[in-house]
Amino acid sequence: MSEPTMPLTTVQGTTLAARRTAELGSRARICGLYDALGAPLYQDLATYDDPETRALVAAVRATPGSVLDLAAGAGRFTLPLLAAGREVTALDLSTDMLALLRTELAKAPTSMQARCTVVQGDMAHFALGRSFPHILLGTTSLSLLDDRGRTHLYRSVLAHLAEGGQFLLTVLERGEFDGPAETAVRVTGAGGTVYELYEDWPAGADSRTVTLLPADPPQDDSPVTVCTDRVAVLDLPRLEEELAESGLTVTSRQPLSPPGERHRVTLLTTEASR
Ligand SMILES: C[S@@+](CC[C@H](N)C(=O)[O-])C[C@H]1O[C@@H](n2cnc3c(N)ncnc32)[C@H](O)[C@@H]1O
Repeated sequence: MSEPTMPLTTVQGTTLAARRTAELGSRARICGLYDALGAPLYQDLATYDDPETRALVAAVRATPGSVLDLAAGAGRFTLPLLAAGREVTALDLSTDMLALLRTELAKAPTSMQARCTVVQGDMAHFALGRSFPHILLGTTSLSLLDDRGRTHLYRSVLAHLAEGGQFLLTVLERGEFDGPAETAVRVTGAGGTVYELYEDWPAGADSRTVTLLPADPPQDDSPVTVCTDRVAVLDLPRLEEELAESGLTVTSRQPLSPPGERHRVTLLTTEASR
């Protein structure tokens, strides 16, 4: 059984992330990446012009019709799809992430708002009473579900896929990368805050731990948000077998990352098996 996302209550071990968190002592407020404390940090770092967003929007543009964006979060794909004129249903489990999406929608033209339906729900168990020519699950979020959850997801997707419709999903594997188990980078959010982003992913491990915290917290006793989650890593050939067993045929595989990178992301296009 693979491991879904596991919100952590501490940053354990001897990793750089654990040492950095330990330095903060009682100031550290440990949270998940998508909860009330973590969601604003995640949103601050969201990008809207990246290879995955471009590939998903291009794949949807090829044929007309409405889109179901699963695990939509704060709308990284929902918003560009609305801007491209599509009707989009954005589904996510986290009310905190959806609150951020609603805030973004409120700033958008009313014509875009009118084409968006926001649904709080579980991507493994949803019943929307309609079908979609396009269903997408990006940001490699399939790995947030365990084996059972994925089986239910495929069932729900098939129940909502229009005749001839496509289910698009992205999958993360470890690329041909010879570097250390843990990486640490500094990234700047849209609001100007600089963050430290750690990823602990020993070669061959079936999960990776992601930790995000502000790089330069104030020099006082105020709390510092430390977001951390352990995320499962799926095996692509096994996943393709699983999709086939569930009644979904892979019709294309599009690499989204250049060779030699630590993260190898692939966009799979699938359709209901005949
Ligand atoms: C990596 S984020 C991606 C969000 C958005 N697609 C993006 O690219 O910014 C994963 C999202 O999955 C959501 N999520 C986690 N488990 C879920 C589930 N069982 N059903 C629906 N959404 C879920 C989280 O709340 C979070 O918003």
